[in-house]
Amino acid sequence: MSVQAELQKTIEDMVDDRRGLLAADESTPTITKRFDAVGIESTAETRRQYRSLLLSGEGVGDYISGVILYEETLDQKDDQGRSIPELAASQGVVPGIKVDKGKGPLPGAPGDEITYGLDGLAERLRNYKEKGARFTKWREVYPITDRNPTALGLRANAEMLARYAMVCQQEGFVPIVEPEVLIDGDHSMERSAEVNEQVWHSVFHALHEHGASLEHLILKPSMVTPGKAHPMAAPEQVAEQTLRTLRRTVPAAVPAIMFLSGGQTPEQATANLDAMNRIRERTPWHIGFSYARALQQPVMEAWKGNPDNVNPAQEAFLKRARLNATARQGEYEAGMETA
Ligand code: 13P
Repeated sequence: MSVQAELQKTIEDMVDDRRGLLAADESTPTITKRFDAVGIESTAETRRQYRSLLLSGEGVGDYISGVILYEETLDQKDDQGRSIPELAASQGVVPGIKVDKGKGPLPGAPGDEITYGLDGLAERLRNYKEKGARFTKWREVYPITDRNPTALGLRANAEMLARYAMVCQQEGFVPIVEPEVLIDGDHSMERSAEVNEQVWHSVFHALHEHGASLEHLILKPSMVTPGKAHPMAAPEQVAEQTLRTLRRTVPAAVPAIMFLSGGQTPEQATANLDAMNRIRERTPWHIGFSYARALQQPVMEAWKGNPDNVNPAQEAFLKRARLNATARQGEYEAGMETA
């Protein structure tokens, strides 16, 4: 198969008008923090049990089309001895992998950050492909302050995302391009719209300059919301501002926009996704989800590391996945939370 045909097939397997992505790619320190919060000990074994649990529930593939895994998980097996990527594929869920190596301060741009991991990426990808991965994710992070992101921060982060995307497409992996504008802070919704517009514009400018195939990548952005110090805006407002900003900056050639949940509650993330899918005019892309916390928080709380809780934990996961698939149709109602 040519690289183009391989990329096209992966897009077709990942993007439809109903399902979304499960981000289960927390680094070990991050998942340890999440486990600690609900009293689960974080070991390679508990992480294996937990991530097998997420992918083995009956019907997962009805709502989830792809899963972003962390490197450790690629080598782990379920209780039947299948590798986790094999388990995902058996459910109709395309396995993918987070390939960035975390972030640190961007020298010369106080307050901004930059992500690591380009060196040796092509070689790592060849190894991940043998283990079953077909798409990748890379996250750049943009804090909002009066001064951030700086012009240098915007340029440097966009350049990283474009270079990452090019390496992945060359190796036959669909890149998920994730510029996360942080919700932390007391900024207004207008400021969030302004920053997201600058970020998305700079990212697509860089992708264009590098010659990325827009048809074969997925954008994973933040929603336009007020900073976390303020109450969340109404879903209609989030939807309107987010879509207006996306229309100004994201080419129609991009097949899908799959949002991160970024610290919203599970219910907020679902309601906001729903509101965007109720506005059908002038949105050329699939508007979907690629949530970590908003899909997994209730699952960890139900599981608590106890084998007796596997069924309720899987039910909690299927419920959130189903409600988000419903939101993709613009047919979610708050009453469904308790039904
Ligand atoms: P959240 O949905 O928890 O923001 O995570 C998505 C993700 O993949 C962050 O990189």
